[in-house]
Order: sequence, then C-alpha cells, then structure tokens
Amino acid sequence: MPTSIRPEPVPPGAVTSRTIGVLGRGRMGSALARALALDGRRVLIAGRRDPARPDPPPPSARVHLVPAATVVAEADPLVLVLPFAAVLELARAGLLQAGQGRTMVDATNPPAAGVSGHPRAGGRLLAELLPQWHVVKALNTVPAGMLGRPVLDGRPVTVPLAGDHPPAKAQVAALLCELGFVPVDVGGIDRAPALESLADLLMAIDSRHSLGGRLGFQLGLAEPMPAQNCGPGSGTALLRRPAEAFDGSSAPGALRC
Ligand SMILES: NC(=O)c1ccc[n+]([C@@H]2O[C@H](COP(=O)([O-])OP(=O)(O)OC[C@H]3O[C@@H](n4cnc5c(N)ncnc54)[C@H](OP(=O)(O)O)[C@@H]3O)[C@@H](O)[C@H]2O)c1
Repeated sequence: MPTSIRPEPVPPGAVTSRTIGVLGRGRMGSALARALALDGRRVLIAGRRDPARPDPPPPSARVHLVPAATVVAEADPLVLVLPFAAVLELARAGLLQAGQGRTMVDATNPPAAGVSGHPRAGGRLLAELLPQWHVVKALNTVPAGMLGRPVLDGRPVTVPLAGDHPPAKAQVAALLCELGFVPVDVGGIDRAPALESLADLLMAIDSRHSLGGRLGFQLGLAEPMPAQNCGPGSGTALLRRPAEAFDGSSAPGALRC
C-alpha cells in the first residue's frame, strides 16, 4: 500500500497548539473562522479589505484580522478560501513563498473552465507551484453553511482529502475530526481534480433543488468504517468508530485521528 494513504497519527494536542490561518474572509472564510474559534482555536484571518477597518467584525475574540502576509508567515495550517484566481495572483506575487514545510489546505474550487490555461488543475497546480508547502486538498466539498454543525440526517459529513505528505494529511484529518467531520483519505494530490468535480456536483444539486447549502457528501460503506476514530480524545463525540488501522490495499483509507 502506498505510504501516501497511510498517514502517521498526529500526537494528541499537536494540532490544537498551532495557530490556524485563513486566507479569505468571505462566506467560507468567515464560517470557517467562526467554527474554529468555537472549537477554542486562535485564528488569523485576512481578506483584501483593510484589517484596520473590519467589516463585518471578527466573529470571536479568538479570531484576529491581520494582513495577509502575517497569516502566511504564522499559520500552520494555512487554509485557502479565496477565489482560485486570487490564489494564483498571490502565488505569482511571491506572497506564498515562505512555506517552510508547513501545511496548506486548499479549500478552493477553480472555475470549471479552468484559470489561465490550467483546466481543472486547482490543488494539483498549487502543489506544483508551491513545493515549499505540503498542500492538502480538503474542505472544498463542504458548503459554508455546514461548517457550524456538519451533521445531516443524524450522520456527520464526510470530507475527502488528498495530498502527498502523510503527516500533513494526518494534521488536517485531526482538525476535521475536531470540527465534527469524518475525514477520508483518497490518495495523493493527483486526486484533487476528483474532489473539485465532487464539489461541482454538490453545487449543481444544491442549485437545482434550492437546498440553501444544507447538503454534503457522506460515504456509505457495506462494512463499518475502518480506522476512523473521531471519538474520545479527538475533540468530538459525533463518532464512535473502531480505532484499528486501515489495512486495505487500494480502497480509500479513513484516517486515524
Ligand atoms: N462558499 C462556500 O460554500 C464554499 C464552499 C467550499 C469552498 N469554497 C471556495 O472557497 C473560496 C471562497 O469562496 P467564498 O464563497 O467564501 O467567496 P466570497 O464570499 O466571494 O469571498 C472571497 C474572499 O476572498 C477574498 N479575496 C478575493 N481576492 C483576493 C485577493 N486577491 N487577495 C486577498 N483576498 C482576496 C475576498 O476579500 P474581500 O472580502 O476583502 O473582497 C473575500 O474575503 C472559493 O474558492 C470557493 O470555491 C466556497
């Protein structure tokens, strides 16, 4: 089994001790910052607007509006919730250069037609452009409105994630668990286009049936989900799954949190 889908478990507390950065303070960025702050985290957030004149104000005392350069310099992980074209602009302007092996969560959804001649290459393209970051594609399939209480029909929403660096994926998986999601590793960053297509599909269903963003992806399995432990000790009581390691060969592996 490729090591890329066997991430190392993150030691308890390793993620919560870090500062989380959110680039983008629109619908998704604001909802994410609010959910992270409710979970007791320190959040640095930036958009294009002048941080000295916040509008609207930060949703919590734990959320700090700062310049984008500060978010990039201090955050681990750094979550991108900008239009994808804006991410490319920032990358080309050199603002995202100082990754130093930290984790970047790409939650963007590039337009279906592609950006600047890169058709549907969102997360994969970022990983190529920004090798100094460990890019993990995740959260792009979650509507902003699902971030506060990610439960549908009594079951938590599944978040597929893709990336080439197992510890970075484990870090993101632990964060997702604490936010109440079920993270599922789908493999390397080459799988990012599949996650972007899944988001397209969910948005099409949302729009066609006027669901107001209250929908999500839930992975159904014939057997109980292996290796998923979002239970005691990981910050959420939404799941009580067996903690034994996933031992499949090619199927997607749920991450130990
Ligand atoms: N909304 C969702 O439910 C959802 C769900 C999953 C993924 N996403 C993805 O998340 C991203 C953002 O979506 P959204 O709905 O939150 O969009 P949005 O409400 O339009 O917010 C976009 C944010 O990006 C900031 N921004 C734009 N260009 C920028 C630049 N050049 N430099 C710095 N900041 C810039 C804007 O800053 P200002 O406010 O200062 O203009 C704003 O805070 C998109 O890639 C989207 O596909 C969204």
